[in-house]
Amino acid sequence: MGARPFLILLSALPLSGCSGWQSALDTHGPHADSLARLFWIFLAILSTVWIVTIVMLLLALRRRREPGDDPLMTHPGTERRMTIVVSSAVALTALIVMALTIVSYGAQRVLFASRDGPLTLLVTGQQFWWKVQYEDASPARTFTTANEIHIPVGEKVLIKLESSDVIHSFWVPSLNGKLDAIPGRQNQIEIQADRPGVYRGQCAEFCGWQHAHMGLLVVAETRQDFERWRDGQISAAHIPDDPEEQKGMEIFMTKPCIMCHQIRGTSAGGKVAPDLTHVGSRQYIAAGTLPTTRGNIAAWIVDPQGIKPGVHMPLVQLAPEEIQPLATYLESLK
Ligand code: CUA
Repeated sequence: MGARPFLILLSALPLSGCSGWQSALDTHGPHADSLARLFWIFLAILSTVWIVTIVMLLLALRRRREPGDDPLMTHPGTERRMTIVVSSAVALTALIVMALTIVSYGAQRVLFASRDGPLTLLVTGQQFWWKVQYEDASPARTFTTANEIHIPVGEKVLIKLESSDVIHSFWVPSLNGKLDAIPGRQNQIEIQADRPGVYRGQCAEFCGWQHAHMGLLVVAETRQDFERWRDGQISAAHIPDDPEEQKGMEIFMTKPCIMCHQIRGTSAGGKVAPDLTHVGSRQYIAAGTLPTTRGNIAAWIVDPQGIKPGVHMPLVQLAPEEIQPLATYLESLK
């Protein structure tokens, strides 16, 4: 719908952790479609109104009075014409405002129509990352991950939004509008992707120092791929057989890491920081800040404050020779 030039412009902007562009005009689902349609309708009508107003203003400015004319003199004919023009303009304005209200109401109905997605996620905004819990009728099939949401293509997914600290805002522009995550209450938003792809999202409410680095990815894939991914996520963490990884695991389990992070299947049971059971399978670490590579994991552990100043990840004291095995172990958690 004429979005190309905007998209080309947006694609020129570097977005950290972005695997495509992050734009509400690059739509990939019915909710985002309805919002984009609303945007173009408003843009077209309001631009027309603006152009007509400016043209009328310029025409009025061009009119010259003859020298000697009394500026207060009016002609009955002119008066009548002006009354008609102004009344029509007022009526037209009221009509346009009413029409836009109705169109906007229609879009809201699409956005908040149904609330019965077969897949339900509890997403909790935290400074400065997203906790993602997949719910299921069977408790054995529930699991927790972070910052990366996988969904099956063409299916409605209900996201229950909560916050554990301050107000955040969940926003994946290609799939839906934004919705606040508010402490002490639950909001609900639905997303649906029409084609496979990776859609970047972003916290859209200023929530502290690292608000800008509170990204997330939505990976839309076929039902089959999604089930494969889900089965992998449900399973406990990989137990290393490689000596380097084993050493890394031992370091992790004997350091304060386990106070905050969970790795299912091990003694690490912390719940305040991202679940690391399958951290190596995620595309990014630190909420969309760094691609998941061994080097980046090591850099993050050694200097979290340098990468995300103000982040709650503390600096863990490690001997230089402990860093490499620890990063190797974490990367192996696919
Ligand atoms: Cu969370 Cu901004």
